[in-house]
Amino acid sequence: MKLFLVLILGQLINVISAELDEREMWIEQKLDHFNESDSRTWNMRYLSIDTFFKPGGPMIINVNAEWSLAANSPLCGLFYEIIQKFQAYAFQTEHRYYGKSRPVKNLQAENLEYLSLGQVLADLAHFIRHQKAAIPALAHSKVILIGCSYAGSIVTFFRKDYPELIDGGWASGAGLTFRLDFADSAVSVGKSLRKIGGDICYDRVEHFSKAYLRHKQRHDDVYTLLKEQNLAVNFDDIDEIIATHVQHRNLTTMQKICKNITSVAENDFIGFGKLLELLMSKSASVGFKNETEFEETHIYRQYFYQSCSEFGNFFTSSSVHQPFGYKTPFSTVIAECQKLFGPKFTIDYISGKVDEMTRKYGGQEPQVDHIYFTKSEDDPWRWAGIIDECATIIPGIGHCHDLRAPKDNDSPELIAARQKGFDLIAEWINGNGTSRETVTKC
Ligand SMILES: *[C@@H]1O[C@H](CO)[C@@H](O)[C@H](O)[C@H]1NC(C)=O
Ligand SMILES: *[C@@H]1O[C@H](CO)[C@@H](O)[C@H](O)[C@H]1NC(C)=O
Ligand SMILES: *[C@@H]1O[C@H](CO)[C@@H](O)[C@H](O)[C@H]1NC(C)=O
Ligand SMILES: *[C@@H]1O[C@H](CO)[C@@H](O)[C@H](O)[C@H]1NC(C)=O
Ligand SMILES: *[C@@H]1O[C@H](CO)[C@@H](O)[C@H](O)[C@H]1NC(C)=O
Repeated sequence: MKLFLVLILGQLINVISAELDEREMWIEQKLDHFNESDSRTWNMRYLSIDTFFKPGGPMIINVNAEWSLAANSPLCGLFYEIIQKFQAYAFQTEHRYYGKSRPVKNLQAENLEYLSLGQVLADLAHFIRHQKAAIPALAHSKVILIGCSYAGSIVTFFRKDYPELIDGGWASGAGLTFRLDFADSAVSVGKSLRKIGGDICYDRVEHFSKAYLRHKQRHDDVYTLLKEQNLAVNFDDIDEIIATHVQHRNLTTMQKICKNITSVAENDFIGFGKLLELLMSKSASVGFKNETEFEETHIYRQYFYQSCSEFGNFFTSSSVHQPFGYKTPFSTVIAECQKLFGPKFTIDYISGKVDEMTRKYGGQEPQVDHIYFTKSEDDPWRWAGIIDECATIIPGIGHCHDLRAPKDNDSPELIAARQKGFDLIAEWINGNGTSRETVTKC
């Protein structure tokens, strides 16, 4: 799985207004926040924007997760509107072990120990305390966190662990469950294909997935031809390629993709391979799981480590109710943990960690207040997020698109969901504190 989880960043960076003064800065952090006698530190990267700040305004942080921090990114275009509207002192924080925030010298297995959710939340806590102390105008400011995808999970868990440091948050497309086998994900991708492109779109994907596996097993002429044309590699990644697009594309684009899929004849393996190649080329490269040197945009090894050590949620083809055949069995995915990170990572170990995380954070019913949850209707992550009744479900958009800058053709549902976010932020900023007054199952 190379692409599935990642925001598609590469093609979009750096187009918003140049006037915005977003300064790159660094803050010293402890390597291990939970060991008093370990004094090692490292420098975490962040961005600071005080362009819109008026005294009395809030501190608003766009939390970044498994990607490299980018100034002026349209992927978080709404953030710039929010900080302008609320006259905030704004920051963007980078997640340890990603981008340029490197607590250790490389990504060899023994250096990954300090890559854990607990350390990440503690980095954020230190960051907020430090800014409140260092910038007198922020001493009594309300604090609002915004995060998408895994960063949305961070925002949610931060409210659970450090309620005194956050007055409210917006979590878009946040995964909250921790389980070994996230088989629902491929099932959800299949359902979306059927809904968006009809049975024929689903059936065509299923046909090519299963037929390819047969040709590969037999090592026959079709397979040899695909190998020669360098197209077999795309079929090997078919589930990830299709899932990535279902996750990240909006409805109109997915309809076009289904049109392209169904226009390839059933016996045209070369044609389908080329289509997969085109889809593949529209996604950013995230590196390989076995790469032990830091590379600014490479995230795959780190994220896979987090999956093996705490998150689980492995994308598999365990269910028969999905279109990719028995392509990515759970056992082979999980065996990679041990191969890459050491003998400790047995299935029992991972299972224990995943259960521990679920007990700690509550899964789909995290019982937090002051967090606004948004989910995109066809995003496979919807099924790892908060229960639907506690979220605003937005149709027609991809993963986290609600946090992008508004566009003229945004749907009424999207416009209303954003308005609700603005209203809640106003309430939290004008409200009276961080007490947990409304603990519900949400
Ligand atoms: C805490 O840090 C000290 C000093 O680096 C180290 O000797 C010790 O093993 C650490 N303890 C744990 C539990 O990691
Ligand atoms: C869907 O995505 C395409 C490509 O990014 C974009 O041009 C189009 O405006 C989007 N449609 C809607 C309704 O947001
Ligand atoms: C559909 O295929 C055409 C022709 O190859 C291509 O130009 C177009 O970008 C494809 N559409 C999508 C949404 O991938
Ligand atoms: C890492 O994995 C890639 C892709 O599977 C492979 O091509 C490469 O040889 C591997 N590198 C090492 C050092 O094992
Ligand atoms: C905070 O707000 C709530 C609801 O608006 C109100 O009931 C409560 O008395 C307020 N508490 C303080 C300390 O002002």
